[in-house]
Amino acid sequence: MDTVRCASGRLASIVMRIGILGTGNMAATLGGAWRRAGHDVLVGGRNPASGGATLRDAATHGELVLLAVPAQVAPPLAADLADVLAGRVVLDCTNPLEPGPDGPMLMIPPGESVAARIAAAAPGAAVVKAFNLCHDSIWTLDPPHFEGLPLAVPYCAATPEAGERVAALIASMGCTPAPCGGLARAPYLEATAALAIGVWFAGGRARAIFPEPAQAT
Ligand SMILES: NC(=O)c1ccc[n+]([C@@H]2O[C@H](COP(=O)([O-])OP(=O)(O)OC[C@H]3O[C@@H](n4cnc5c(N)ncnc54)[C@H](OP(=O)(O)O)[C@@H]3O)[C@@H](O)[C@H]2O)c1
Repeated sequence: MDTVRCASGRLASIVMRIGILGTGNMAATLGGAWRRAGHDVLVGGRNPASGGATLRDAATHGELVLLAVPAQVAPPLAADLADVLAGRVVLDCTNPLEPGPDGPMLMIPPGESVAARIAAAAPGAAVVKAFNLCHDSIWTLDPPHFEGLPLAVPYCAATPEAGERVAALIASMGCTPAPCGGLARAPYLEATAALAIGVWFAGGRARAIFPEPAQAT
């Protein structure tokens, strides 16, 4: 097993090759967090500068591949790269949201998810919905801890093996993996983003909504 002592001093037990499709905010901040954790990250864009990586280069590089593009772009992009994505873990951080009168609304019908559309577009890939709940700036915190506790990162994974890889990735960032079931439950993560963003925009404390497990039931 490869290990590396990263800049932050954390020991990343598994060095992962990660490809990021997209060069925007999430690519920069999640990519930065993963590099700090010691991983080997390649970011690719649709209009690479001379010598820069293309989307296909980045997909080829990653045993894990993050789709850091708009929600409506992710399924067709996955279809374009389905040959490369086969056999890889595909991370979906997208939020299919549009503004509504009382806060953000889902752009897709209830029960559907972008994650499932990506899985249908790239049937050989193991899709994991994750990293969609926090603003990109959170991934610049080193470590992302709040009130003395590591940030919990929920994820829904198409397969247990893909879930284990993503759990290891989350742990390497100094966060706590929070498994939330299979891809059939990804619509709940996408809806949770709509709900939480609405609470935050209204000035509420989304973090304060949930009790500790002992008081939960
Ligand atoms: N930002 C956040 O706080 C946050 C939090 C949670 C989830 N997310 C989700 O993460 C995803 C990325 O968000 P972001 O904030 O990083 O967006 P962003 O800064 O706007 O970056 C989007 C990236 O997608 C690329 N792109 C757009 N259309 C494309 C196409 N047709 N083909 C290939 N690439 C295309 C853009 O390329 P160009 O530069 O060439 O236009 C850009 O590199 C979104 O789905 C969003 O819902 C964002």
